[in-house]
Amino acid sequence: MFIGIDLGTSSVKAILTDNKGNVLRTQSADYPVYYPKNGWSEQDPAAWLSATKKVIKKLSDGLEDQIRGISFGGQMHGLVALDERGEVIRPCILWNDGRTEKETAWLNENVGREKLSFLTANIAFAGFTAPKLLWLKANEPENFSRISKIMLPKDYLVYKLTGVHATDYSDASGTLLLDVQNKRWSEEMCEICSVKSKWLPKLCESWEVVGKVKPEFGLPDCVVTAGAGDNAAAAVGTGTVGNGDCNISLGTSGTVFIAQDGFSVDSRNALHAFCHSSGKWHLMGCILSAASAYKWWIEDIFGAKDYDTATAGAGEDGHLYFLPYLMGERSPHNDVNARGAFIGMRPDTTRADLSLSVLEGVTFALRDCVDIARAEGLTITSTNLCGGGARTKVWRQLVADILNVDVYMTTDEGPAFGAAILAMVGAGAFGDVNEAAAAIIRRKKVASPDPAAVRLYEKKYAVWKTLYPALRDSFAMMK
Ligand code: XUL
Repeated sequence: MFIGIDLGTSSVKAILTDNKGNVLRTQSADYPVYYPKNGWSEQDPAAWLSATKKVIKKLSDGLEDQIRGISFGGQMHGLVALDERGEVIRPCILWNDGRTEKETAWLNENVGREKLSFLTANIAFAGFTAPKLLWLKANEPENFSRISKIMLPKDYLVYKLTGVHATDYSDASGTLLLDVQNKRWSEEMCEICSVKSKWLPKLCESWEVVGKVKPEFGLPDCVVTAGAGDNAAAAVGTGTVGNGDCNISLGTSGTVFIAQDGFSVDSRNALHAFCHSSGKWHLMGCILSAASAYKWWIEDIFGAKDYDTATAGAGEDGHLYFLPYLMGERSPHNDVNARGAFIGMRPDTTRADLSLSVLEGVTFALRDCVDIARAEGLTITSTNLCGGGARTKVWRQLVADILNVDVYMTTDEGPAFGAAILAMVGAGAFGDVNEAAAAIIRRKKVASPDPAAVRLYEKKYAVWKTLYPALRDSFAMMK
C-alpha cells in the first residue's frame, strides 16, 4: 500500500491506495493561513507537520507494516528556511504572497528578463522563492544571516520524515534558482540572490527514493520519494503526462498545466516553463485566486455551502463581470496590486448573478493563460480537471464553454493521487510514471462545449479582457 499526501494551502489531504491505485482510505486536516499585512500570506511549517503526522497515523492505523511508500505533492514556491539546528527560522512565505514587488521588479528590470530566462527558463514573479530570499535579506537581515538550509514546503515534510534535505525538479523549478533545461541549480542565479550552494537541497526526480521513514513514525518498511510541486503531482494524478496533454486545477490557485516532452519556453515568458514530475517538462499559467475566490464569495460573504444552487437562476443575459484578483495576479499580469472587482451591477442584479460572475471571472482568467498557449501554437481541445472547484457542476460546464474544450475528470484527489503514484514508482510497483498512469488512471468526460454558450462567452470574454487594463493604474493607486 501507498500513501499520497497533498500539502495544500488550506489543508493537507491524503490517501491510502493499493498497488492498483484503488483508494482505500482518505484523510484531511486543516490549518490556517495568516495574512499579517495586505497582500502577505504565511503559514507555520509546524502546523503542516502536525497535520501530516495526524493523517499518516489515521491512514496507516492497523496497516503500518503494509505501507511501502509515501510521497508528496506540495504547494509550490514557499520559502522554508532552517537554522543550523534544523529549526524553522520564520513562518513560511507562501506562493500567493505579494510582498516582493520591489525585488521582483529589480530581478526583471536590473538583472533583466532575458538573462533570467536564459539562466532559469523563467522571469521573476512575486510568488517565486528567489525574490523572497532577496526580501528576507533586505528586510530581516538577522533571519537571513541564520539560514543554513532552504527548502520548499513539501521538502520540509520529507526532511522531517527521513532526515534528508532533498527536493525534486518540478518544485525546484519554481524557485527561480534552477536551470530548468539542464536540471541543475544555476550558480549564477544563486550568486545574484546571495544564496550559498550548501543551503540548497539535493535535486531528485519526483519518484526517486530519498530515504526511509524514520522509526518514530511507526512505518517499518516504507520509503519516501522526493514528490513534486502540487501541479506536477496533480498532472500525474489525472494522467496528464503525454506531450500536449492539459490539466486544469481549480484549487486555492487555478492552473493550466500543459505537459511537454521537450523543454520549451513561450516567447514572452508569460507561462512558467518548469520540469514535470514525469521526468519531462511542462508549461503552466497560474492564477492566484480560483476556488479561493469562489469560497470567499459563497462561504464568507454569501453564507452558503451549496455552490450549484447558489448560481441557479442567474440571469441569462450575463450582464455582470468579476475580476478575481483578490491576492493580486500572477499569470499573465504579474501584478501584486491588482484586486477583485464586480463590474456592471444594475438594480436587477441578483445574488445568483453575482455568484455566477465569480465563477465566470475565474474561468476568464484561466482563459487568459490558455490563449497564451494557443498563441504559441499549442492545440488545446480537451483538458483534465481537478481540485475542489471541479466538484461544482456549473463550473465544469463553464470551463467547457469559456475555454471551448472537452472536460475530463478522474478523481478530484489530483495531487494526492499523483503523489501515491510517485510512491508506487519509487517502491518499484511500476517502471516509470507514464507506465503507472497508463495502468491506473481512468477518466471520463464530464462536460463538452455548448456552441451557443461558446459564442456568448466569446463576446463576454472580449469585454472582460478590457477591464483589468482599464483598472490597472487605479489598483496601483489603492495600495
Ligand atoms: C503554482 C502555484 C500554485 C501553488 C498552489 O505556480 O503557485 O499552484 O502551487 O498550491
